[in-house]
Amino acid sequence: MLVVQILLKTGKFILECVLGGCNYEPIPEFQTVTKNTKAIVEQINIDNEESIAVALAQAEKLADLSGEDKAVLAAALSTLFYHDNHGRPGMIKLAGKAEAIIGKLGMDVVPFLISELVNADSESAAHFGRAVARNGKPAVKAVLQAIDANRKEDYAVINLLTALSYFTDSEAISAMPEILVAAKSANHRVRAEALEASAGLAKRLDATLFDEKLRLKMYDIASSALGDQQPIVRHFAVHSIGEMVKKGLLDGELKGKAAKAFSGILGIDGNNNWDNGFIVRHEAEKYVGLFKQAGSAKNKYHQSFRILEKRELCPDTYYFTIEAPLTAAKIQAGQFIIIRPSEFAERIPLSICGWNRDKGTINIIVMAAGRTSREMTNLSVGSCFADVVGPLGTRSHVKKHEGTCVVIGGGYGTGAVIPTARDLAALGNRVIGIVGARNEKLLLMVPELKEVCAEVMLTTNDGSAGIKGFVIHALEEILKRGEKISHVLAVGPVPMMMAVAAMTKPLGIETYVSLNAVMVDGTGMCGSCRVIVGGETKFACFHGPDFDGHKVDFEQLMKRQKMFVAKEKEALAFSEN
Ligand SMILES: Cc1cc2nc3c(=O)[nH]c(=O)nc-3n(C[C@H](O)[C@H](O)[C@H](O)COP(=O)(O)OP(=O)(O)OC[C@H]3O[C@@H](n4cnc5c(N)ncnc54)[C@H](O)[C@@H]3O)c2cc1C
Ligand code: FES
Repeated sequence: MLVVQILLKTGKFILECVLGGCNYEPIPEFQTVTKNTKAIVEQINIDNEESIAVALAQAEKLADLSGEDKAVLAAALSTLFYHDNHGRPGMIKLAGKAEAIIGKLGMDVVPFLISELVNADSESAAHFGRAVARNGKPAVKAVLQAIDANRKEDYAVINLLTALSYFTDSEAISAMPEILVAAKSANHRVRAEALEASAGLAKRLDATLFDEKLRLKMYDIASSALGDQQPIVRHFAVHSIGEMVKKGLLDGELKGKAAKAFSGILGIDGNNNWDNGFIVRHEAEKYVGLFKQAGSAKNKYHQSFRILEKRELCPDTYYFTIEAPLTAAKIQAGQFIIIRPSEFAERIPLSICGWNRDKGTINIIVMAAGRTSREMTNLSVGSCFADVVGPLGTRSHVKKHEGTCVVIGGGYGTGAVIPTARDLAALGNRVIGIVGARNEKLLLMVPELKEVCAEVMLTTNDGSAGIKGFVIHALEEILKRGEKISHVLAVGPVPMMMAVAAMTKPLGIETYVSLNAVMVDGTGMCGSCRVIVGGETKFACFHGPDFDGHKVDFEQLMKRQKMFVAKEKEALAFSEN
């Protein structure tokens, strides 16, 4: 049962339509709506692309609608904005068509659209915003009034700024002061959205509407946002400046300054101090061709992600050396990358187990766990990965400790602890490595770990090598011989990290674990990798991946890791057929 509540300020009535599948129950007010509109609403309510397409074609033909008809139609059509479009490109098209039809219903429905817009998710907000923006001048005023009324609600302001970015009416220039104030908000998402709105208006409005003073102010604000701590804000600052240049709003000195800034972001100014944010560099690349003096971004910035070496470490697990000079130049121990093996593949996070800054290469270990990792391990030397994003995440916690540091690896985690072990040793720490596996054949990267540790201990479940048992038994042995342990880093399967943290907690030994939460964007935007640490929500990709193991909610992590098991099995089966 779908309950749609429509509040129309202009019509000064509240209409409640209660629709259940195609068997709606008309309530008194609904009866004033014409047959045609009712039929269209019923048809939209059937979640079927063909039926919706027919309904939209009919809705396009409606004319001379009453206020009630418009209200009911707007409410029904806008439900399409909320459809889960994932995997249904047809629905995105239909939602776009619905936008145009709602847009034509005029100002009568704008208050309703705005009341929905302020609470909508970002995808739906874009649809609502475009529908509102089709109403030109009076709608600009309505959006500005709504911003005023919702000033304390950052989420609402973000969506209203989205709407402003779509206006093409010259009146929208009157929104610029509001947008520029929002670009300095304390909330980074408001700042980002305001910069996007500024870019949107620079792109859509006539250049003559932007006077010298306004151009300078827009540039100054976007230019100072290039130094923002949040990559998403820097991304939209680049977008905003880029659109200004494209529109010809910047010339002479300002264009020169912009060219310099973009060269710096891309690291093509000779200083090798490019922006750490991939999304920022990617955005700058789109515009750098507009500055002739900026030189060729491709030559210095291009990375092929070619596989230079591939070695089998144990069944289904491979060591790769990849050509990725920009990542190699910046990566630090504990950070990770996100890799997409081919154009249509998923992107998966992987730890870095080594790099050579001079040769411009990075090393990774890939365990074929599912569809995408299997696709990677099927590639051979000479092939190229579609893209590599990184470095991502924060550096491991490294300092000089009083006692011994122990790094513990299981599976690909042994590779991941090597750079941290090297950094700890470089600071004068005594570092012991522990590698655990089910049997001797599955012990990975032992010679490489030995190169950076004073001692390496092995454990196998079946006793085929080293201590028979688990990594915590090796840890116990170090303690038994009276050695003081000050710091532990464990990277590997969750049960292993959990056991290590449970053992060291009562002993008060500082323990970090690397959380392999399911990740999507890897930049702290999507929330998919959220974990609970010390009762607080953290994003593993942004705040981690290393966290204080004594504070991690491992139960929640394991639950979230299993979220997509059914889909993962389906994907693997599909790729194997
Ligand atoms: C920070 C980090 C570092 C990692 N380092 C390595 C590494 O060095 N080598 C390595 O082989 N693997 C590493 N992983 C795990 C690797 O990302 C997953 O094995 C991979 O995503 C699986 O994708 P798939 O399509 O092959 O398999 P799927 O069938 O999608 O998944 C198989 C299993 O992998 C896990 N997984 C799935 N998707 C993700 C995701 N997007 N992010 C994290 N885990 C996921 C799930 O637990 C799932 O059950 C790391 C994960 C994280 C978060
Ligand atoms: S992967 Fe999206 S927030 Fe971490």
